[in-house]
Amino acid sequence: MKKKKPLYEGKAKVIFNGPEADTLVQYFKDDATAFNAQKKDVITGKGILNNYISEHIMLAIRELGIPNHFISRISDREQLIHKLEIIPVEVVVRNVAAGSICSRLGLEEGAMLNNTLVEFCLKNDSLGDPIVAPEHIFTFGWATPDELETIVEDTLRINDFLTGLFLGIGVRLIDFKLEFGRYGTDAAAEIMLADEISPDNCRLWDVKTNEKMDKDRFRRDLGGLLEAYQEIARRLGVKIPQVD
Ligand code: TMP
Ligand code: ASP
Repeated sequence: MKKKKPLYEGKAKVIFNGPEADTLVQYFKDDATAFNAQKKDVITGKGILNNYISEHIMLAIRELGIPNHFISRISDREQLIHKLEIIPVEVVVRNVAAGSICSRLGLEEGAMLNNTLVEFCLKNDSLGDPIVAPEHIFTFGWATPDELETIVEDTLRINDFLTGLFLGIGVRLIDFKLEFGRYGTDAAAEIMLADEISPDNCRLWDVKTNEKMDKDRFRRDLGGLLEAYQEIARRLGVKIPQVD
């Protein structure tokens, strides 16, 4: 069988054309990267776990009435998604200090933030995804003020929802990263949540033990990444097939 040609290959996923002009197929790889891909490994089965976990969360977010690109899961590693024009801004939500904000601002890991903090980074690997202000987003035309308002509104609702979802399974949602895009053209375009929501792009700590259940296990060489992701899936009630 002739292999489909990728449209775009990212660090953890590959995008192919979908069956319709306005759909794509998102394929979840087992590749794990950190620190802008300076650290790399293959963790067999990670892609399957992220596919199923992200499907579960995207469906729940759709129920909230927040539009997102997920249409259906096609296979263990593939999802059918709406084709969007991706906004080149990563939206990072922080409830508790961890990761880059600790080194950037000299904070202790685990310090509660006074309020939920939303940060923006330019999605550009060669520049190392630098943090940017809304003014940069408007000046360079990455999104309009109206679009950013919708993005922040959706982001805060998603944070409230996910915080509760994870607390319900004994997990603290420390921080996470979202991406958005435009569905449709011109003035009629609708802002939609894109990408994935999985332990690859969230920090998740066990409520009782503070144990890390996310990609920090890989970033920090803690081991047990697959087991942690499996435990997140198990607690969410997401059934995962045997790893191939
Ligand atoms: P950071 O502390 O490294 O800035 O990451 C904040 C959150 O965003 C964390 O949950 C991991 C996630 N993230 C991604 O999903 N992709 C990225 O490229 C980066 C830098 C962070
Ligand atoms: N995904 C990013 C990378 O490779 C950063 C990270 O998640 O830590 O490099």
